Parts: sequence; C-alpha cells; structure tokens
Amino acid sequence: MAQVADAHRDQIDRFFAGPGSRCDQWRDLAELAEAWSAGSGSRTQFEAALDNIMATEEFHAYPGYPLIQALRDHAIANDASATATLARHITRALLTRSYRQNSGDWDADEDEQRVNTEVLPPTLGHRSAHRPYFEVLIVTGAPATRWPALATEWRRLRQPLDAFVYEPVFVGSFEDAFCASVLNPDLAAVIVQEGFPFRSRHDAAILRSILEEARQHEKIDESALSLARLLKRVRPELDLYLVSSGRVEQIAGSTQANSVRRIFYAVEELLELHLSILEGVQDRYDTPFFNNLKKYAQRPIGTFHALPIARGKSIFRSDWIRDMGEFYGTNLFLAESSATTGGLDSLLEPTGNIKRAQEMAARAFGADHVFFVTNGTSTSNKMAVQALLGPGDIAIVDRNCHKSHHYGMVLAGAQPLYVEAFPMTEYSMYGAVPLRTIKQALLNLKADGRLHRAKMVDLTNCTFDGHIYNTRRVMEECLAIKPDLIFLWDEAWFGFARFSPFLRPRTAMGAASDIEAWLRDSNSVKEYEKQQAALGTAPSDELLLSKRLIPDPRKVKLRVYQTNSTHKSMSALRQGSMLLVKDVEFHSVEAQFHEAVFTHASTSPNQQLIASLDVARRQMELEGYGLVHNAIEVALAIRQAVATHPLISKYFHILGADEMVPAASRESGFIDYLDPKSNWGKALHSLKDDEFCLDPTRMTLACGTAGFDGTQFKTLLANRYNIQLNKTSRNSVLLQSNINNTRSDVAHLIRVLVEISEELDQRLAQGSRTVRQTFEARVRSLMADVPDLPNFSHFHDAYRKDSGKRTNEGDIRAAFYSAYDAACCEHIRLADPEIDRRLKDGPELVSANFVIPYPPGFPIMVPGQVITQETIVFMRKLDVKEIHGYDAAEGLKLVRTDALAKRAGVPTKRAA
Ligand SMILES: Cc1ncc(COP(=O)(O)O)c(C=O)c1O
Repeated sequence: MAQVADAHRDQIDRFFAGPGSRCDQWRDLAELAEAWSAGSGSRTQFEAALDNIMATEEFHAYPGYPLIQALRDHAIANDASATATLARHITRALLTRSYRQNSGDWDADEDEQRVNTEVLPPTLGHRSAHRPYFEVLIVTGAPATRWPALATEWRRLRQPLDAFVYEPVFVGSFEDAFCASVLNPDLAAVIVQEGFPFRSRHDAAILRSILEEARQHEKIDESALSLARLLKRVRPELDLYLVSSGRVEQIAGSTQANSVRRIFYAVEELLELHLSILEGVQDRYDTPFFNNLKKYAQRPIGTFHALPIARGKSIFRSDWIRDMGEFYGTNLFLAESSATTGGLDSLLEPTGNIKRAQEMAARAFGADHVFFVTNGTSTSNKMAVQALLGPGDIAIVDRNCHKSHHYGMVLAGAQPLYVEAFPMTEYSMYGAVPLRTIKQALLNLKADGRLHRAKMVDLTNCTFDGHIYNTRRVMEECLAIKPDLIFLWDEAWFGFARFSPFLRPRTAMGAASDIEAWLRDSNSVKEYEKQQAALGTAPSDELLLSKRLIPDPRKVKLRVYQTNSTHKSMSALRQGSMLLVKDVEFHSVEAQFHEAVFTHASTSPNQQLIASLDVARRQMELEGYGLVHNAIEVALAIRQAVATHPLISKYFHILGADEMVPAASRESGFIDYLDPKSNWGKALHSLKDDEFCLDPTRMTLACGTAGFDGTQFKTLLANRYNIQLNKTSRNSVLLQSNINNTRSDVAHLIRVLVEISEELDQRLAQGSRTVRQTFEARVRSLMADVPDLPNFSHFHDAYRKDSGKRTNEGDIRAAFYSAYDAACCEHIRLADPEIDRRLKDGPELVSANFVIPYPPGFPIMVPGQVITQETIVFMRKLDVKEIHGYDAAEGLKLVRTDALAKRAGVPTKRAA
C-alpha cells in the first residue's frame, strides 16, 4: 500500500496513510533542507516538497500556519541553515509528540525560546501537570486570511484550570472538512459554522468519487447538517457543534440534527462553545468504575472479609513474598476488594458505577446494552448462547468457530447445524462461510418444515486469519428468509474495528445500525415489494440463492449480538471481554441474560479487569481512531517491506487478498493492498461490497517456503528473537499488528526476517547438494503435501432422531454426555489397523468428545460425529503436539455402537 501511497503523495485523499507516513514526509523534508544546507541539494527541491505536503498539513494544528510561514520565509531568504534547523525542530516535535505539552515546540526560534503570542498557544507549558491534548476542527466560510486571528481568539478562552488543552484547526469547505476528519486523528470535536462552499481548493479524484457516492446514496447535500451527518458516520465518537446565524429553532427541531451535540446561535457564544467542547471531552474521559476504584484505594479501609491480599499488608510485611508487592506496586493491592458497595458496584447485578461504565461502553460501541465479562470471550459466547437458545433450538454455526460456541450448544441443549467455511487447503486453514451455504441451510430447514426451530446464525467476524464478512448482507439476506433470526457475531479479534470508518460497516454493530437506518427509510418497503414481484410467487431455491435478497422491513426484528475480546485488540487486561446487544426483543430475553451472568460470572470478579474495560473504552473513544489507523499503517508497512526486500521475499511472503479470498467472493476484483494497480478507491470498494475482505492488520506469512512449519517458526521467533506470535498453520504463521505497535516493532521484525533469510541463503549456498535437496524436499512437503481439510460429516443417527432430512443438525448435548458413561465408550489408537477396518466394514466410529488440534484450533471431531476416512487421514498427517480431547497413548475416545443401538429416544425434545 505504501506504493499506492507514494503514487498519490501529492493528493489529499491518501486516506490510509496514517501518522507514521506524515512523520516520514516531514523527515524527508528535513533531509532535503539539510541536503540543501550541506550543498548536495537545492532550495527548489525543498520548496517543491514543502508545497507537496501542504495540502494535508492544513488539516493539522501543528506545526500550523506561523511555523510553516517561518519555514517558507527562511527559504525565501535563501537561508538554508535556518530552514534545516527549523525543519528538524518541527520533525522532532512531531515524532516525539512533544508539541502537545511543550510550548517551545510552537516557537519558530527554538534556541531563544521566544514567547510569541501569535505563534505560541499561551497556556501550553504553563502547568506542570500533564493535560491531555486534542484538536478541534472548525469548518467556516470565513476567509483563510482571518484564520490565524480566529485561532488566537480561541486560545484566549483557555483557563489554567481546564482539564484539557486543545488547538483549533480551520477548514473552508465541505470536502476539506471530510478530509480533515479522516486524516487528523487528534480531532475530538468539530464546529460546523453554516455558510461554506462544497468543493475543496485541492483536486482529489478519489475523494470526489467517494463523496459523489455519498451524495447519491446517502442523500448528502452541501448543508451544515449534511456535513454533520457525514462526519458522524466517519467518526461517531466526535462531538459536533453547529453554529448558525439563521433559524436555530428550526434546525434544532429537524431529525437530521440528531448527530449534533449542541446548536449555537452565531459566534457570540464562544465561551459557551469552549466550555461545551471541554465538557464533551470530559464525558468520554470519565471512567466511572475506574475513578471510584482509585478513590476506594485511597481510603483507609479495614477489611474483615475473605481477601487477605486486599490492602497488601500480608504481602508487604512478609519476608517471603514481598517481591510480589514490589513487582506490582501498592496500588494493585489497595485496589483489591471483594466489596460491591462503598463506592464499588456488583458485576453480577450492577446498579452503580459498573452500570454507568457499561452504558458508556454501549454508546462507544454502538450497542443498546453492554455486559462486561471478566472471563474472556470464551465466557461471553457461552453466556450469549445460553441466554438466547433453549433445548432443541437450531443454530446455524460455523463449524470452524471457537470452541466456546460448541460448548455453549452443549450447555444449552441446542442443535448445532454446522456449516462449512471455504477451505484454504494449501495453508491448512479455513476461510469464512459463504453466504450461499448459510442461505441453503435456511432453505433446507424451510423445505423440511423446521425453519421455525432455527433461532440463530452464529459466525466469527473476522476469523482468526482475517476474513471479514459482509455482515450487513449476511443479516439482510438471512432475514429475508426468516425475519426474526438472531445473529451472534463472535468479534473476539475485531473489537477495534469499530474505530475505523473503513471497517466499522463490516462489524456487527456497524451493520446493525445501517440496517436500522434502512428499515426506517420510506423506500425500503418499495424495494422489498419490487423484488418480491420480480421473484414471483414460488421462486426456486436456485433463484433465491443467486439473488441478493431484500427482507420485508415490516416483518424484520433486528436482533444482533456481538462478543469481543477487548483484551485482544484494546487496552484491557487479559480476559477482559464485552458482550454487546442490539436487539429489539431484548426485553424478552433480559431475564435469561441475568441467568447467564449468574451461571458464568464468578462471584469474585476481578476489580482490575473491570476497571481496564472502563479505561479501554475511554481510550478508544478519545484516541481509538488514530491508534487503529496506526495499526493498519504498521501492517501495510510490514506487507510492503516483506514484499520488496530482495532476500526476505526470496523465502517468505504475506498472502494477498487474492490468495486469502476466492475470486467469486471478491466481486470488486480487488487483488491486494500491494497491487501496483490498486488505489484507495479500490480498497474501499472491496471493503464496502465484497462478500469477504481481508482485515489489513492480520497477515498470514508463508514460512513453509523457507523450510519452517508454523510451530517451528513461531518457536524460533520467540526463543531467539523475543517475538511473540499467536497462530500458526502447517506452513504459515499469523502476524498481527495492533494499537500497541510502533515503527520500531516493524523494524525489529524486518531485521529478524533479514537475518533468518541471510542464514538460510548462506546455508544453501555453502552447503552440499544434499543440503539443498533436503531443503527442497522439506519445502515441498510443507507446501504441497498438505492434508485435505475434513468437513463435518454428520451426527450419528442415534443423535438425529429429532433432526431434519436435508440438514445435519444433531443433539450434541446427548452425545456429549454419552462420554460420561465409561461403559459406553471405547478407545482405539490412531495407528491401530482396527480403525481402517472399522472405516471399511463398520460399525461406524463415533467420536465421544471434542478433538481440537492446535493448530488449526477448530474441532475436527465433535461429540456424536461419525468419523470418516478424511478425518483419520488428517489426524494422522497432523504433526502438532497439542490436541485437546485426544490422548495419543489411549487413542480416540469413541461411543460404542452397541450402546448407541440401545439408546432409546432423544432426551431433550422441545415442542415445535
Ligand atoms: C474467534 C474466537 N472467539 C473467542 C475466543 C476466546 O476469547 P478469549 O480468549 O477472550 O476467551 C477466541 C480465542 O482465541 C477466538 O479466536
């Protein structure tokens, strides 16, 4: 993508170029100034580069007009040395972000530390305590020549007691406002003053095409309210203020004004506006539970309950375990408590600050309700499944989903109807479940007269390897077949996506909100009826499978749940997870959710975990946008470096979208972020329309081509280079960037890949022919001799007495409990020829439990599943050590078929 970014360097619509690329541009500029100063460059080169970055610099407060003018003045005066000094000074301040706290950085003459009220924001540096810094976008029709004076007026409003400090950024058009909202991650609020033109002064083709589409599809016009609506879509976390000199009462009454926090009449209310901005940010900064926990920790509390570690006295007075206290510090122990009152709250039945913290998280993540969960998404999933499904209910489940869903089905007594993701056999991994497969399952249920039993569609978005569903399309088309289906989206890995405008529409909550808006649109019924007329009265399955189905908006009951491992992608402590709810029928299942909380939540939940969920929400609402942008930028930098380094690319490569997603599901024709013919418009098109697209932050690095299997390579990186990875496959490892990564991490990784490639290169160059032949054979074995991925076969008939003819659901709970009766089970070793004999002549082999190899991490056998030849071949070829549910010494645990024959009836039948 960096190639793409380079190609559009002079354009303002480089929307995927984040803070790192901006710093790079400044570093390049400083180098040009230094080269000019040293005699190896020229003023013309410097000035051309400065002009080039100006288009996007306008959208940032720092360095701002006065410093840039000073830079220009130095150049005009032909003073190369002063130009280089100032360019260096600005670049350093941007790189270290010191300008947010340090007043000297705003001074054009750093050495003298001159305080120039025109240049220097007056209160920066006047308080010793750290004050969070943000920027406020002001969209105005006032001429650009007045902006510096207006900025000074805004700065005069600052008070030493303000909790935060901010700088204004001015833009003069609709298009510029849109660009600034995308390109400036420091924005926390926007003031839209009526009376600005639509078009930017800059020419930007991709920007124009994006906005043109918004104008057509979202009825965007050039009004201030329209701009507010668009900005809210891009950055829902921003506070928007509208300043009008017209009829504010009329504007305030319009439904379009819902996206605006407050409306002001003309600019006479500057101080009020200033205070509102600070209050708005304070609203997001507030962390009700964490604040109370800090207060609680400061109080002199005597404890006579069962938590000796609380207050830390048993630790700090001990000769033997004091090092634990020293390691963690006192606050951890002061903040340990089993109290649910006295300033704290109960996670099991929150009424105070945990309730408030959950409500704030719901706002941040676009949900109606949020449950904080302190045992990971493993528990959130089980809670959702238990609360939403009862015995006998059918759930369409991705067989490749996390084991918590399968166990949830066992607990609930629900019948999983497994659907298969598309296989990526060459890499021993699965993609995601094609919508056609899901629709077919629903149509089959309908044909069997069992559709009323189907309650839920349960999918993983994005998958471990980064396949993102078109969540809106999946839900709409499924709702067209059954309008009250519940969707459970496991977004364990994808919680951060809420904070990227490009990824948000693909999240459960983002799509739910788009569907909600569509349901309210007066045209939606017409669209539905038009399609119904075209489909006719008895459309064939094939027709229904091939069309993008539109649901009946009058019948749809939108019921969407999302779980996310907040700890996997945001700053929450391990196991911190959230369960998000957007369900018009929530009132009918609320009591069941309370039961699920009581079933699964510990009665001693960890206070620090709850606090970290509260704080993670604060961070994402205030800086999540920039952090996610950075994670994407880091990932693109890694992709770029691996693809272009001559030595690394000889042995390793990161799979592109074309290798991860079948062409039929990439309708946009998008190849990859690195494709030279690609541009941001195409990437956005893919993100918007394709059946599946790829999360740019998840990178599958093929290492089999370097002779390493995934586990081997992961171990090498961990043991020799202190690089931790998460997932591996037979011939690949998954690299993942997150909000914590920096460019230094990228540099370290690339260095390590270079070192490994060099060693390999040397070994092959200097080794004998046998060494090279062994290497080639190893690569072939890893890359070509890959086992086929076994599909789910079916449940044994003994567990299918209450199942349909055309679908594969089964009574997994009864099967699971079969394994509890030792007399009904037998073991056969994997290598035993008895297995082959049974596969050929019977009786059938029926798994007694879940068998989950790591990698790939999905159950290749579930209780009650009939084991097929493919599964055995796959198991025998697996060269992994960790297989949950399988003890190599004992062999496969099977339910005896004579016991199955004796099984009478099905234990949990539910009236249809
Ligand atoms: C798709 C998916 N869902 C849920 C989980 C479980 O999440 P947690 O580790 O937060 O319990 C995982 C863990 O890897 C996962 O990959």
